[in-house]
Amino acid sequence: MLPCVYRLQPVLTLLSFTLLTQGENCPAICLCPDPHTVDCSGRGLTRLPDEIPLDVRRLLLADNWIPRIPSDFLVLYSDLVYLDLRNNSLSNIEPGTLSTSSRLVFLDLGCNNLTEIPKGTFGESRSLIKLRLGNNPYLSMVNEDAFMGLTSLRELELERNALSGLQVGALSQLPSLRVVRLEGNPWVCNCNFANLFTWLEENSHKLPNGIDGMECSLPTDGRRVPLSQLSQDSFRECQITLTLTDFLIIIFSGISVSVAAIMASFFLASTVHCFQRWSKGTKGDEEESEE
Ligand SMILES: *[C@@H]1O[C@H](CO)[C@@H](O)[C@H](O)[C@H]1NC(C)=O
Ligand SMILES: *[C@@H]1O[C@H](CO)[C@@H](O)[C@H](O)[C@H]1NC(C)=O
Repeated sequence: MLPCVYRLQPVLTLLSFTLLTQGENCPAICLCPDPHTVDCSGRGLTRLPDEIPLDVRRLLLADNWIPRIPSDFLVLYSDLVYLDLRNNSLSNIEPGTLSTSSRLVFLDLGCNNLTEIPKGTFGESRSLIKLRLGNNPYLSMVNEDAFMGLTSLRELELERNALSGLQVGALSQLPSLRVVRLEGNPWVCNCNFANLFTWLEENSHKLPNGIDGMECSLPTDGRRVPLSQLSQDSFRECQITLTLTDFLIIIFSGISVSVAAIMASFFLASTVHCFQRWSKGTKGDEEESEE
């Protein structure tokens, strides 16, 4: 039995080798472990390799030095389901790059040099389920509508970036969100943070370590406190200041409106009165002259 397998081995090796190479024209520098996967991880690439088969579904490009993705990339590779660009040198995603990524399910842009996620970056990537954007040390701005249209997104990673705040709309617009990672950002628990704090308390089951894993620094002295030590009461001052300002505006505008109304009616009344007196006067004169 055993010698038989032994004799068959070269044949099997040759067979698998033919299957591998016969498949799509694999870029010389990459590996293609199956007909749908191109693995160019850790090859020291400074740009996307040429000759990636157009029907690739899994493209692994992690641990390279790739600084940009051409904006028509996903038009070309429209079958892509899984794109791993972790640990590259991307500093931005050109607008429109991902707007045609209708099949993309997994996108890893972690450990890059992104600075901002503008509105509509991911277009209508309705299939996207997992999006990794963590460990971008200069990523300080995520637009409120950055993830608009990602209706299937279940996992979002934004950990260890440079975020000091985040509009709660960026998260609340995601109907399928189950897991969100936000820890390790330099959050500032000022009044802008109050809405996010409320959302985090209500959605703490979506955070892998609950609210305990997160910290923010106090706007007063920069002291870092775990979010678990804060409560809605910590942000009460914000509400009071807000309502007080609102209150003053309302009272003040109320007073101005009433004063303006009184002045206007007084002016109107006097005008009417004057006019009546004047027309009476002229009538009287006419009557007098007729006599
Ligand atoms: C990132 O990629 C570089 C270059 O390939 C590699 O040397 C480094 O170990 C990678 N870093 C991580 C955290 O994987
Ligand atoms: C990353 O971005 C920062 C700020 O935009 C820049 O100073 C730095 O040189 C960039 N690093 C790399 C490796 O591109």
